[in-house]
Amino acid sequence: MELTLPDLQEKLKSWDGCALSKNANPVLGEGNHNADVLFIGEAPGKKEDELGRPFVGSAGKFLDELIESMGWKRSDVYISNVVKYRPPDNRDPTPEEKAECMPWLMLEIAIIKPKVIVPLGRHSLGHFFDKLSISDAHGHPQPLTDDVTIFPIYHPAAAMHNGGLRQALHDDFAQLKIVLDSQGIAPPTE
Ligand code: URA
Repeated sequence: MELTLPDLQEKLKSWDGCALSKNANPVLGEGNHNADVLFIGEAPGKKEDELGRPFVGSAGKFLDELIESMGWKRSDVYISNVVKYRPPDNRDPTPEEKAECMPWLMLEIAIIKPKVIVPLGRHSLGHFFDKLSISDAHGHPQPLTDDVTIFPIYHPAAAMHNGGLRQALHDDFAQLKIVLDSQGIAPPTE
């Protein structure tokens, strides 16, 4: 039988392969299970931990706004994270925590089969291209395979601490829309 996203959600609840799971709630991705576009953040924050959903705090509100700036809706895409549990005090996830949680993201990608993957920030970009810096690569499509393009973008939370990045994020989403249009990728019709 094929594994589904609800199966993953269920299995993650009883997983203890990462020490963060002792003190935090599991947060898998959410959204369109057949999405062409997959956004990948770093790790859940306080609000995400409380609600068990990704990107539902202030960075999530900004991400929703950016997605809508392309004429898409949050429910058209799939949104996930590298790490599935909130690190204490929102510290950066360690390399071990990222490696431990990675199989979950790999399974999400295998099930959804997105055409465009958008790493949000350096932790997520590092999984795909560990030699690229987010400041150089953001806004530039990077072909991964014949079927998958990686389109790195700054993490939306970074713009909360640096006003200049807000415009960079808006510009990158405008560029993302151009890339999607050029590949004939449109939001699903209801
Ligand atoms: N930041 C992230 O990287 N992920 C979330 O889910 C929320 C904030």
